Amino acid sequence: MFEVLPQLAPDPILGLSAAYREDTNSAKIDLGVGVYKDEQGNTPIMTSVAKAQQILLERETTKTYITPQGHQGYIDGMLELLLGKNSKVLMADRVAAVQAPGGCGALRILSELLARCGDNMKVWVSDPTWANHIPLIGSAGLTIETYPYFDKKSEGINFDAMMDTLKQTGKGDIVLLHGCCHNPTGADLTNAQWDEVLKLAQEKGFLPFIDVAYLGFGDGLEEDAYGIRLLAENLPEVIIAASCSKNFGLYRERTGLAAIITETSATKKIAQGQIQSVARGIYSMPPSWGGALVDIILADNSLKTEWMSEVNEMRNRMQSLRTMLVEKLAENGANRDFSFLNTQKGMFSFLCISPEQVREVRSKHSVYFVDSSRVNIAGINQQNVDALAKALVSVL
Ligand SMILES: Cc1ncc(COP(=O)(O)O)c(C=O)c1O
Repeated sequence: MFEVLPQLAPDPILGLSAAYREDTNSAKIDLGVGVYKDEQGNTPIMTSVAKAQQILLERETTKTYITPQGHQGYIDGMLELLLGKNSKVLMADRVAAVQAPGGCGALRILSELLARCGDNMKVWVSDPTWANHIPLIGSAGLTIETYPYFDKKSEGINFDAMMDTLKQTGKGDIVLLHGCCHNPTGADLTNAQWDEVLKLAQEKGFLPFIDVAYLGFGDGLEEDAYGIRLLAENLPEVIIAASCSKNFGLYRERTGLAAIITETSATKKIAQGQIQSVARGIYSMPPSWGGALVDIILADNSLKTEWMSEVNEMRNRMQSLRTMLVEKLAENGANRDFSFLNTQKGMFSFLCISPEQVREVRSKHSVYFVDSSRVNIAGINQQNVDALAKALVSVL
C-alpha cells in the first residue's frame, strides 16, 4: 500500500543532527537543535523539577486516565503565569483551556478548533516563522499567509512592513504572534509595538493566535508576558498555545496548554466543549506526568521560587553568551558589527550570514546550524566560543 507514497526529503534539522553525530572532529560545535544546554553541553533536569518528581512518585497512586482537560491545578497555574494574578478575563470566567501534549499539541488542536469555525480560514504567520508552524497549522486545513517580519539587511524587525500587511486583514482572519523570544530570529516586538498591534487588532478585528514557548527566556517571566496580557485583557477573543518544554525543561514529557479567551463566559462553555472534542478526535486524554510536575511546582511557594530562579539563571546565561560571542567576533577581527545579537532575546538568533557561508563554516570548521543562519545560543560555552568566533570570521 505505502509504495504509492512519495519518498520525503529528510527533515533539515534532524539531518543536521545526524551529520553532527557522524562528524569525528572532536572540536565540533552544535548550534542546531532547539534545546537548552548548560556549560557542559547537557540538557539538565531542573532542580525544581527533580524535586517535584520525588513528590509525585510518592503522591501518585494510580495510572488511570486523567480527565480530558488535564490537571486542573496545572491549567490554573499556567493561566495565572500567562495572564497574571489579577487577570480580568480569568475573573470573568472567559477562558477555556486544556492541557495539551506539548506546545505542538496545543498549536494543532487550536488550529483544528479554528477550522471548525468556518471555511477558508486564513492564518497570517511571520516571515520567517518557526518551521513547524506550517505543518501544524496547515494540516488542520487552514490557509497560511505571511506578513513581513525580519529584515536580514537591517538585522531587525521591519515593523512598518508588518503593520502595512496586517492592515489588509479583517474580521475572521487569524494572526499568529510569538509571545516572546521569536523563533527563529530572536527579534521581539517592543512594548510600544505590542501597543500598536493591539490598536490594529481592535480596528481590523483579526484574532490573535499567540504562541509562547519561551516565557522567562527574554527579559523575565513577568516582562515576557506583556504582549499576551495586553491583548488578552483588551480584546474580546485571543487564543494562546503555550509550552513547558523549555522553561521547565520538560521536552520529552510533552506538556503544553491550549487556551481560548472568549467574549463571554457562555461562549467559554462552548469553546471548552469543542476543544475537548477536538482533542478526543486526536489523542483523547493528555499525558499526565509533565502537567502534574508543573502543578506541584506552581502550587508550592518554595518550589516556585526555586524554579523562577532557575529560569532567571538560564536567561542570564544565554544573555552573557550573546555578549561573549559579540566580543569574541570583534576581537577576532570580524568585518561586521554583530552587536544586534545583544538586543535579541531567548534561545535563537539569525547570524544574518548567507547559506553559502553557513555551509562553509560547517564543512571547514564542523560548526553546525541551519542554512537560514539560525543559531541556538545555548549551544555556545566558554570552551567553544573562541573557536566559534574564529570559524565565523573566516567565512565572513
Ligand atoms: C515557537 C515554538 N512554538 C512551539 C514550540 C513547541 O514546543 P513543544 O511541542 O516541544 O512543547 C516550539 C518548540 O521548539 C517553538 O519553538
